[in-house]
Amino acid sequence: MSHVFISHSAKDFDALLELHEALRAASIPDWYVPNDGGSRETANQSIDDAFAMIVLVSASSVRSKAVKQDVERAKARGLKLIPYQIDKARLNGFFKHEVLPHLRLSSTTPDGLKQLVAETKQAYKKKCPVVAVMNLKGGVGKTTVTSQVFGAWQGALGGRILLIDLDPQYNLTQTFFEMDVADSSAAEDRSVISLFEKSRLHARDASSPADSWLTLSTDPFAPTRREKIVHELMGEGSPGGRLDLVSGQFEISKYAFASDPTALEMIKEHFLQSIERYRSDYDLIVFDTNPNATFLTRCALEAADRVLAPMHADIYSLRGVRLLNQVIKEQIPADKRPDLSVLFNAVGRSEQSSFEADARNGTYNAKAGFDLARALMRAALPRSGHLQVKAPQEGQPAWKQLTIHSGRGGGLKPIRESLKAVALELKLLLEDA
Ligand SMILES: Nc1ncnc2c1ncn2[C@@H]1O[C@H](COP(=O)(O)OP(=O)(O)OP(=O)(O)O)[C@@H](O)[C@H]1O
Ligand SMILES: [Mg+2]
Repeated sequence: MSHVFISHSAKDFDALLELHEALRAASIPDWYVPNDGGSRETANQSIDDAFAMIVLVSASSVRSKAVKQDVERAKARGLKLIPYQIDKARLNGFFKHEVLPHLRLSSTTPDGLKQLVAETKQAYKKKCPVVAVMNLKGGVGKTTVTSQVFGAWQGALGGRILLIDLDPQYNLTQTFFEMDVADSSAAEDRSVISLFEKSRLHARDASSPADSWLTLSTDPFAPTRREKIVHELMGEGSPGGRLDLVSGQFEISKYAFASDPTALEMIKEHFLQSIERYRSDYDLIVFDTNPNATFLTRCALEAADRVLAPMHADIYSLRGVRLLNQVIKEQIPADKRPDLSVLFNAVGRSEQSSFEADARNGTYNAKAGFDLARALMRAALPRSGHLQVKAPQEGQPAWKQLTIHSGRGGGLKPIRESLKAVALELKLLLEDA
């Protein structure tokens, strides 16, 4: 479980302790560096893991270098700021710009501390949105969008993001790790299968669900702490923040062969409960999915708030989107039905002027079987060598695979801008929902 980070000046120790006690009484975990002399690296790590930051605003904290660095880090990571004024300090310069706009709570109001705890609790209980990247057509860029758009989201807009590789081909995992790394992780059940069935990750004496294609384990299990199952993509030497991956594996194909509907229903519930659990640990969860309609499709659709369907500017992709919309409407109960957004991917210049324009003015709505023009995102991704998959290099960290971070090169700037534009538009859509 993550914590609230309390940024403060060493001089405000009494206020800090009072707040710590109030948070403890409300069962909200907190974290603070005991004084300004704490290590920057430890503080940064703790900020990256936090769900929000409380800033104790005082005459001494507005002059503290450490507090300023805390707030800068929070801003870079898109972390929620909850400032709390504890004396009559005037906010100037940096604090006026970065902290004052969020400042609503003060210890001078009678219920100040209570309100602070209530607001923190609300942030603590918040469940993040879930996006499924899906199209019932292969090769349209689902995996590319999952890695590159959401990598750009984390890099540019901040927030804590979890990617889950729900495709038995596990291309998303192979985008970041060499095959043997992915396979050895799967060999310990530290992979997507542990979201569905009880595994060695949950109990040492359990057997691996990957070992048997014929049996489904319907034993209940408590989802593991996120650290036990995920791979951190923003590790050593990275620009920081949290982008994690639950790696994929081929053996989840077994669900497509299973014939016991009751067992499958239970396994789907395990999956939904696991996702629900991790929704408190992140600001966004994203699934990369398989191109054919299977049990995994149903699981992804029931867990998702929104489907993001990449499509090429051609009639095959259009058919994939049509089928997808049909599956969502016909197979998913109304109360669990996700919204649908469609994203043009790999659009070339000539297609842009014809197919894309026609799609935007509604020409293909009838063929799509729904209001495609309305579901289309305004931003689109061009066809570009920079978005073409490249094998991970030995010894190179996973985050270097992300276009948003991968060095310099001709034409990279507009591609990064496109990735960020898609991320920002999607963020606004999710906030509006
Ligand atoms: N915008 C783009 N520009 C250039 N190449 C792209 C772009 N998007 C995707 N590609 C390339 O197209 C191929 C298919 O992309 P990707 O694997 O992301 O599709 P997918 O929908 O996940 O496929 P599958 O259905 O097999 O899972 C890959 O080689 C990828 O590198
Ligand atoms: Mg794929």
